[in-house]
Amino acid sequence: FARPLVLGIESSCDETAVALVAADRTILAQAIASQEAEHAPYGGVVPEIAARAHADRIAPMVEAVLADAGLTLADVDAVAATAGPGLIGGVMVGLVSGKALAMAADKPLLAVNHLEGHALSPRLADASLDFPYLLLLVSGGHCQILAVEGAGHYRRLATTIDDALGEAFDKTAKILRLGYPGGPAVERLAREGDASKLRLPRPLAGSKEPHFSFAGLKSAVLRAHESGEYAPADIAAAFQQAAVDCLIDRLEHALALIDRMPALVVAGGVAANQAVRGALEALAARRDMRFVAPPLALCTDNAAMIAWAGCERIMLEGEAWIGAAGDPLDIK
Ligand code: KG4
Ligand code: ZN
Repeated sequence: FARPLVLGIESSCDETAVALVAADRTILAQAIASQEAEHAPYGGVVPEIAARAHADRIAPMVEAVLADAGLTLADVDAVAATAGPGLIGGVMVGLVSGKALAMAADKPLLAVNHLEGHALSPRLADASLDFPYLLLLVSGGHCQILAVEGAGHYRRLATTIDDALGEAFDKTAKILRLGYPGGPAVERLAREGDASKLRLPRPLAGSKEPHFSFAGLKSAVLRAHESGEYAPADIAAAFQQAAVDCLIDRLEHALALIDRMPALVVAGGVAANQAVRGALEALAARRDMRFVAPPLALCTDNAAMIAWAGCERIMLEGEAWIGAAGDPLDIK
């Protein structure tokens, strides 16, 4: 394998994940433990339960991943851990675990921004994806349009002024009593529905402001459901259609403000949604842009993206990093 070799840890939400990634884009080993079962009874992620589950799982998962690759901590060039944003208890557990491993092995610790992990993960999957690219980052906590100009160089063009899109999917699922996690359940139900049965708002569509807003859409879903006039499948389909229309409208707005971008890239958990992917693909085709969507396992939270962000940063800094021990904790 090509050095550098980075051990990544992700613990910012409800997935505990550990991965070993090399700079030649090989994922040598990885493990991911979902906490879905622990949180399902509460209809959402409970931060205290999440932090405890991460604390129980990280150390054995690190051991398992290293064993799986037939390596030891001594073979690793750096440890990368998510340093936020996220649920603070979980972030602390992962970051402190990473710091302890780095100190024990006398290797540098790379504190990685979770969003940077999502932003760079498409390059882990696709060696031909060069900077710059336009990134739509759509997850449970974030909804942003970023111009990714290089590792460490991100220009935020739009963000949500209220809910993230994944959050809107999750809340819609809760209103329609589809359980948690909501996104995939809403997508499944939407396939059986007819979006034209009701008209839901497209908040901020056509606005001169660059941002997203989904709170009004969620409230409209609640009102439609409470009216008792519409089938849940039709509500799910209309919601998903409105959400997709908002994404496309806001991306069109962003594209009008910037120089031509060669590629449109999607990342974050909502990128798993086929209706979202299809609409983005069509937009890219209209704009003569390449469309890049990483495999689903790299779209949702994972540790390979954190390790890869570490690899990108080391490669930027050059040879000086390799084997450099005891670097300070640099939280960005
Ligand atoms: O990136 P991610 O795994 O975690 C963070 O929020 O950082 O994203 C999770 C979000 C959840 O809100 C989930 O409901 C949503 O992504 N999601 C989906 C789908 N799969 C996951 N939303 C819509 N359609 C899907 N198929
Ligand atoms: Zn995420």
